[in-house]
Amino acid sequence: MRIEGAVALVTGASRGIGFALVEGLIARGVSHVYATARTPRVQNGPDGRDRLIPLRMDVTNEPGVLGVAALANDVTLLVNNAGMLTPGGVFDVEAAQIRREMETNCLGLINVARVFAPVIERNGGGVILNVLSISALANAPTIGVYSASKAAAWSATQAMRAELAAKNIQVLAAFPGPVDTDMTRKLQVVKTSAKDVAEAMLDGIEQGMPEIFPDPMSKQAGDIWQKNPKMLERQFAFL
Ligand SMILES: NC(=O)c1ccc[n+]([C@@H]2O[C@H](COP(=O)([O-])OP(=O)(O)OC[C@H]3O[C@@H](n4cnc5c(N)ncnc54)[C@H](OP(=O)(O)O)[C@@H]3O)[C@@H](O)[C@H]2O)c1
Repeated sequence: MRIEGAVALVTGASRGIGFALVEGLIARGVSHVYATARTPRVQNGPDGRDRLIPLRMDVTNEPGVLGVAALANDVTLLVNNAGMLTPGGVFDVEAAQIRREMETNCLGLINVARVFAPVIERNGGGVILNVLSISALANAPTIGVYSASKAAAWSATQAMRAELAAKNIQVLAAFPGPVDTDMTRKLQVVKTSAKDVAEAMLDGIEQGMPEIFPDPMSKQAGDIWQKNPKMLERQFAFL
């Protein structure tokens, strides 16, 4: 898809990867971008920011998402980026928190796609990019609940891809490794910058890549997954 002239909506755009995506979209010439989050912190202004429209949207609140779609009815590119991470394995994280994580990372993503797919179709087709995680492809047990929520979102992505192909909507998935944002603030691992990851995702959109591995770690893990998924499972589980 050509980003120049497109109308984009990014969820979770107040900071981290979402904010870097908004900046990248503006630099690549979108007509305008709806930058959504529960607490929108970005504001429009000069230097391309006049093309930025901040909107409040909680991806888990279906009536709220429908309300935003009534305003943002010209979208042709949806980036489902909002997400949360609770460190811990499936036996550590408390049940209510597991539910919140699934609600945000999987059900919220489905919710937003269900509301915006008809909007994109009415506008002649376009792209949905779902921002997942490399841990969607093999569970990383130290973030076991998060990985499970992203694996469920990956499965839903495959379903969307099949269901929307005839409607001229391409559904892409990005599988980042660790990125330097609030989400990984306490993690002592090598991280890629949000800007570099966002740029790789935008390249993936322009090239129509069904699976985008936007950083060196995810590229390496993606190669292993393509050749030998069992080996990736063992590596992530330190078995
Ligand atoms: N950082 C990493 O290492 C990494 C790696 C792989 C994948 N990812 C994925 O990349 C995406 C962005 O992550 P990030 O690192 O940029 O995280 P971040 O810095 O923690 O930002 C998360 C964003 O999601 C929004 N958000 C959270 N819950 C929401 C909800 N219910 N409704 C709407 N917005 C919500 C937050 O905004 P508000 O709090 O204002 O709503 C914020 O804008 C996530 O899907 C994450 O899982 C991140």
